Amino acid sequence: MRKESLVSITDYSKEEILDLLEKTKKFEENPNRRVLEGKVIATLFFEPSTRTRLSFETAVNRLGGRVIGFSDAATTSSSKGETLKDTIMMVSNYADLIIMRHYLEGAARYASEISSIPIVNAGDGANQHPSQTMLDLYSIYKTQGTLQNLNITMVGDLKYGRTVHSLLMAMSHFNPTFHFVAPDELKMPEEYKEFCRQNNISYEEHSDFTEEVINRADILYMTRVQRERFTDLIEYEKVKNVYTLHNQMLNGSKPNLRVLHPLPRVNEISYDVDDNPKAYYFQQAQNGLYARQAIICNVLGTEI
Ligand code: CP
Repeated sequence: MRKESLVSITDYSKEEILDLLEKTKKFEENPNRRVLEGKVIATLFFEPSTRTRLSFETAVNRLGGRVIGFSDAATTSSSKGETLKDTIMMVSNYADLIIMRHYLEGAARYASEISSIPIVNAGDGANQHPSQTMLDLYSIYKTQGTLQNLNITMVGDLKYGRTVHSLLMAMSHFNPTFHFVAPDELKMPEEYKEFCRQNNISYEEHSDFTEEVINRADILYMTRVQRERFTDLIEYEKVKNVYTLHNQMLNGSKPNLRVLHPLPRVNEISYDVDDNPKAYYFQQAQNGLYARQAIICNVLGTEI
């Protein structure tokens, strides 16, 4: 049992990931276990969130712990100029665990280096989103019956998308074949393609979102073009509607295909897909509750 921060999905070995998936399954079977009674968990969200914050907080509440924190840094003393270091030092005195989202890449790693209590990275800029990855892995495993040898097609903002960066690294344990569908401006960064090459993982890049690509996929992982990551909004306007998945585009897809999306969506998945049995993004978000319960217990060293 670990009792350490979770900053990057690479903090976990393949065995630890599989162990966490087992625990996630146990929490899905029974999410109401009073194993965190007496614990205080801080959720510090310097960037907006719906799913991640609320599912972490639900996770704590269902486990009998208590939550402190903020969802809007403008209401905290960071708006008066208090540094991240001082904020973390303070909250470390109050809570047993910090769950933190920040707009700066590396902020969670930095926090973990100065904090006396574990940090869970709930997303740091365009870098990593490891708890999202655990719920994505669980969703893939549940829908495919395996994590091994799958065709994973990632679509949209692969440059700034922290969810695809984390997922790519986690899936590297399971011999995937990746298809990266992105416009030139939002291609998968070189460092992640180099990671694939070093780990003998096959990938192909596409700029067109075609039915031929969709029909080869086991998992179609759609992503939002993230307005908040662009410094030049003219560049955002050029690519914001680059790909939209419509229901009829799934007509020739594999029976086992599932459409995932970390959410929120803007317009990259048409509403007519929602009723297709291959649409899995809302169940995927629900799985986040169980995956996050498993993560919290892991980093706190809590037996379940
Ligand atoms: N998937 C995800 O991180 O969603 P939120 O931004 O709503 O937390």
